[in-house]
Amino acid sequence: MRAVQVREPGRPPVVAEQAPPAGHVLVEVLAAPITPLDLLCATGTSYFGAPQTPYVPGVQGVGTVGGRVVWFPTSAGMAPGDGSMAAVASVPEADLVDLPAEADPVAVAAAGLSAVAAYLALTWRGELVEGEQVVVLGAGGVVGQAAVQLARAAGARRVVAGARSTAAQERARDAGADAVVALDTDDHLALADRFAQACDGPADLVLDPLFGAPAAAAARVLRPGGRLVNLGSSAGETSPLDSSTLRSRSLRVLGYTNNELSPERRGAAIRTVADAVARGVLAVAHERVPLEQAPAAWERQAAGGSAGRIVLTP
Ligand SMILES: NC(=O)c1ccc[n+]([C@@H]2O[C@H](COP(=O)([O-])OP(=O)(O)OC[C@H]3O[C@@H](n4cnc5c(N)ncnc54)[C@H](OP(=O)(O)O)[C@@H]3O)[C@@H](O)[C@H]2O)c1
Repeated sequence: MRAVQVREPGRPPVVAEQAPPAGHVLVEVLAAPITPLDLLCATGTSYFGAPQTPYVPGVQGVGTVGGRVVWFPTSAGMAPGDGSMAAVASVPEADLVDLPAEADPVAVAAAGLSAVAAYLALTWRGELVEGEQVVVLGAGGVVGQAAVQLARAAGARRVVAGARSTAAQERARDAGADAVVALDTDDHLALADRFAQACDGPADLVLDPLFGAPAAAAARVLRPGGRLVNLGSSAGETSPLDSSTLRSRSLRVLGYTNNELSPERRGAAIRTVADAVARGVLAVAHERVPLEQAPAAWERQAAGGSAGRIVLTP
């Protein structure tokens, strides 16, 4: 079968012929997204350590098995074994999540675990309730676009986005943000002023895949007892978040990772995401690219040169 192979950490993958997998349920892959986690694991610098090579990357995918359309996770790049970027993937039955027939497999794959993280960081860790004002950082990314749309669907009164490039700001607007703040400076005090102007009074919740200056800025517009949920560090591993901002308003700063989800909670969240895609409530920018073009697509995704999440189709 045709498969994408990472042969050396830090080097772009290749497409090659390899023996089909065996062992679990064999899923014919329809769609496999290239996510930040795939790119990170393949560098060999993630906290999972350098992966055993060669391996097929792809921590999630959508495929068919016996007439069912299913979403599936893998631990490719985090533990030995192959992932979703191949014609066929081997997946334990318990990990398969049945999808509604109306949901476009490529659109579900594009949203995938990024939308799961947005959804659960908002509603579960972030305890979003109807009528609240939410600030979504990195709103041009997949987590951010999903968070803008899912916060709205959960009844948020106002959603203020923060996004860096003009293309990302455009995606945030397309996702339905009420206002968009340009994250084009590292001056967190200047950014805080922009957020204060874009918000309608103090915010209740910040959804933060960026950390760095944008998180420190957004924390300054939270109300007393407000929450900031961090789920990524695209802007920086550290942040100039200061003690007086935290303690003067008794803020709650929370972390979130998909890695601690039980298979049941993850499966239920994927179904919620797929239903939202099928109903047209959730749509993230993506490109569909044939699996054969994976090496160039991988490099384009890593360099930020794509028009959204690239989804490989075998
Ligand atoms: N905790 C979890 O379970 C979980 C799950 C999924 C994702 N994540 C993490 O969440 C983050 C976002 O994921 P994603 O899927 O949304 O990624 P993505 O689609 O690649 O989007 C990343 C976004 O971050 C923006 N960005 C990058 N550097 C920035 C900076 N210095 N300042 C401001 N914005 C910056 C990019 O803006 P431009 O468009 O302007 O380049 C882009 O829109 C990643 O770190 C990912 O690892 C965590």
